[in-house]
Amino acid sequence: MEQINSHVEKLAGKVVVLGVSGSIAAYKSADLTSELRKAGAEVFVVMTESATRFITPLTLGTLSRNPVAVSLWDEGQGWQPGHIELADQADLFLVAPATANQIANFARGQCPDLLASIYLATRAPVLIAPAMNGKMYEHEATQENLKILESRGVHFIDPVVGELACGYEGVGKLAPIDQIVLESAGLLA
Ligand SMILES: Cc1cc2nc3c(=O)[nH]c(=O)nc-3n(C[C@H](O)[C@H](O)[C@H](O)COP(=O)(O)O)c2cc1C
Repeated sequence: MEQINSHVEKLAGKVVVLGVSGSIAAYKSADLTSELRKAGAEVFVVMTESATRFITPLTLGTLSRNPVAVSLWDEGQGWQPGHIELADQADLFLVAPATANQIANFARGQCPDLLASIYLATRAPVLIAPAMNGKMYEHEATQENLKILESRGVHFIDPVVGELACGYEGVGKLAPIDQIVLESAGLLA
């Protein structure tokens, strides 16, 4: 327990840009936001449009105590474009849950939205926690995208096996929140 606490202490005072994409597991990002903030991190949540179908920016803004960014076209705090501002501020870029779609965007360097633009613009460590239907996760396309990202230094928290929201049993469940918090802390100096 002491070891866990000292590990998590590394989050204190650090800026975590938390990307939330359109997975059914997006509701779990409320707990994740809360736990990261309680560990002392400054959390800036970035949601995709799809994610807002699953959980509201109001919830994540309240829990993070910071405004939530969704659109690439929102004006930032200063003169810089919002995605550059967030990308530069981040000590860690954490994407949880990460959809198959965002993983594909990142692997191809495509930037159709704020989240994918931050991925390309940041030089902070990147930690991705995929969550999706097992067949989507095991699909060659997704597996190839994951390999590409891994070869570029992206860190992953693999999804776990269990009963999936889609009705299937298999791999694809978002990793436990305490594990995501712990691995986030582990990537910080
Ligand atoms: C009910 C429902 C649940 C979904 N869950 C997931 C999921 O867990 N993982 C995933 O990759 N896509 C999931 N999708 C599909 C994504 O929402 C869809 O691919 C979307 O375009 C992703 O957008 P984003 O990556 O910009 O957030 C789900 C869709 C629906 C309607």
